[in-house]
Amino acid sequence: MIRLQDVHKSFGDTHVLRGVNLELTQGETLVILGRSGTGKSVTLKHIVGLMKPDSGHIFVDGIDVTSASNEQLQTVRQRVAYLFQTGALVNWLSVRDNVALPLAEQRKLSSAEIRERVEESLQSLSMLEAADRMPSQISGGMRKRAALARVLVAQPKAILYDEPTAGLDPVMARTVSHLIRDVQSSGDRMALVVTHDLELAFSVATRIGLHYKGELIELAPPDVFKQSKHPVIRAFLDGQSDLGEEGLNQ
Ligand SMILES: Nc1ncnc2c1ncn2[C@@H]1O[C@H](COP(=O)(O)OP(=O)(O)O)[C@@H](O)[C@H]1O
Ligand SMILES: [Mg+2]
Repeated sequence: MIRLQDVHKSFGDTHVLRGVNLELTQGETLVILGRSGTGKSVTLKHIVGLMKPDSGHIFVDGIDVTSASNEQLQTVRQRVAYLFQTGALVNWLSVRDNVALPLAEQRKLSSAEIRERVEESLQSLSMLEAADRMPSQISGGMRKRAALARVLVAQPKAILYDEPTAGLDPVMARTVSHLIRDVQSSGDRMALVVTHDLELAFSVATRIGLHYKGELIELAPPDVFKQSKHPVIRAFLDGQSDLGEEGLNQ
């Protein structure tokens, strides 16, 4: 379980997180919508301990991330995978070696076991054929899939997706939405997706909230969120759905 409790964070004069509260339980896919620069990535970075809050608490399976030891942080990062916006593959390693990286770092499995898990993970994302290519030799969509394969290979309990469809064409964006849904339906994992892509949000979410002025507002199931009368949410949904339709007609 992941829980954020009244988390505050400022950078200089900018008070980015002003009391973020959220709870993510097994099997859920929580989507956080919000315009660029509102603090969505900052929120995710707090969950895996890459940033420390000024005040408030973050719990992952009962571990308080804000005061965790290095060993506890390592446990948190094994349970909670963070899929960076850029995908961040290592350029000088093949797709296969990139995917093997988290397991090699854990040093828990034999090389035969690692090979097997890597094959499985690549296969589940239809990436076996590209396994021996370098990141520069594959398309943007394939790089996203390779990055997801690298996340799945460690069998995390929770996956944090940072703008997983940003920069993709509409067809590829839909493929990524399906991937996220498939990953969710094949286990009782938790997922937290931050995005401004409404099509993605409504296709994967079990609950949706909007990051606005440093807080999460209207965390609710998709159908309830869609009917929200909150003026900021109305503006966000109406403004962005126009963009969404333009995207579809391209
Ligand atoms: N390491 C940092 N140092 C200073 N300011 C930061 C840092 N990371 C994020 N910010 C600021 O925090 C705000 C929220 O950033 P971010 O969470 O990346 O937004 P987004 O919602 O687009 O993911 C922005 O104003 C950004 O400039
Ligand atoms: Mg961001």
